[in-house]
Amino acid sequence: MKALQCLSYGDPPELRIAETAGPEPGPGEALIAVEAVGIGGFDAVLLGGRYQERPEPPFVPGRELAGRVLAVGEGGDPALVGLRVAAIAFKGALAERAVARCDHCMATPPDMDAATAASVLSAYATSLYALETCGRMRAGETVLVLGGAGTVGAAAIDIARGLGGRVVAAASSAEKLAFCRMRGADLAVDYGAPDWRRTMTEKLGGGVDLVLDPVGGALSEPAFRSLAPGGRHLVVGFAAGEIPRIPLNLPLLKRASVVGVDWGGFMQQEPAANRALLARLRTLFGSGVLRPERPIVHPLSALVALLDDFRNRRSVGKPVIRLDFDAAR
Ligand SMILES: NC(=O)c1ccc[n+]([C@@H]2O[C@H](COP(=O)([O-])OP(=O)(O)OC[C@H]3O[C@@H](n4cnc5c(N)ncnc54)[C@H](OP(=O)(O)O)[C@@H]3O)[C@@H](O)[C@H]2O)c1
Repeated sequence: MKALQCLSYGDPPELRIAETAGPEPGPGEALIAVEAVGIGGFDAVLLGGRYQERPEPPFVPGRELAGRVLAVGEGGDPALVGLRVAAIAFKGALAERAVARCDHCMATPPDMDAATAASVLSAYATSLYALETCGRMRAGETVLVLGGAGTVGAAAIDIARGLGGRVVAAASSAEKLAFCRMRGADLAVDYGAPDWRRTMTEKLGGGVDLVLDPVGGALSEPAFRSLAPGGRHLVVGFAAGEIPRIPLNLPLLKRASVVGVDWGGFMQQEPAANRALLARLRTLFGSGVLRPERPIVHPLSALVALLDDFRNRRSVGKPVIRLDFDAAR
């Protein structure tokens, strides 16, 4: 089969299209004919050589995909064979065929096209796990989403809106703020502006109930300070590159919680609960409660430019690559 291989890490990485032996599904795995691959900040970090795990080159990159299940390995779910799925593969997705754990596949709702399916699973599952499972979000609560135009942030806006929340999205440019409003934010805040926290709480008439924080750095403490009593700060990631330190008197004074969110760990360690999470996600998509944006679809040749956009904070939403190896040669 044809696949994209990473020959060496870097910004840009060294990549080539190669003819490789196709993967075989191991125990509990599904073999998937890949149609589309979602690209995210993770790919930029991995291919730049900055992720904690570094697969030995040459390897096939690509973490998130949509396609049709061709077969399952021993102990895999036979009901998946023939279905179109969205799946997380960690690596190997930028190829004609890829494998993913059956537990890490969500059967695609009937109305969802392959490009949208390739863009939603990681961001929406992370945000649903963060808001409902970890944050115990209730309808009517106010949710502040940091990095609202990022991959996780945009999904969190849609989920918080769909679950009946009042959504405040924060981002760094006029284009990103317009995107947040378009995705359903009731209020969009430029967190590059001085005193953005005071402006936000004045407009809201009080504090927020939840902060969904995939950004970290200097933004986390003012966001935590904007919580109302009983609030929950959901620690999702550190896209800013710096792990913040929050003084512990703040949770005490506010009777507020810092809650760690690790969907990857949840997937691995609580497979039954994760299956229930993915089933709920599919229901929310299928019933129209969640309305993911149709992503911009790019050819394989755009990959390096997309990685550059993530690294330089230019990306809005989650782009997708439609696989066409013949066109890319
Ligand atoms: N815990 C989990 O289970 C889980 C799951 C998925 C992802 N994550 C983590 O969540 C974080 C965000 O992931 P993502 O896929 O949403 O990333 P993304 O699409 O790149 O979005 C990150 C956002 O962070 C903001 N940002 C601030 N400083 C930045 C910088 N120096 N470089 C890049 N972006 C910066 C950007 O918005 P502005 O320009 O508007 O500030 C950007 O839109 C990552 O750290 C990722 O590892 C965690």
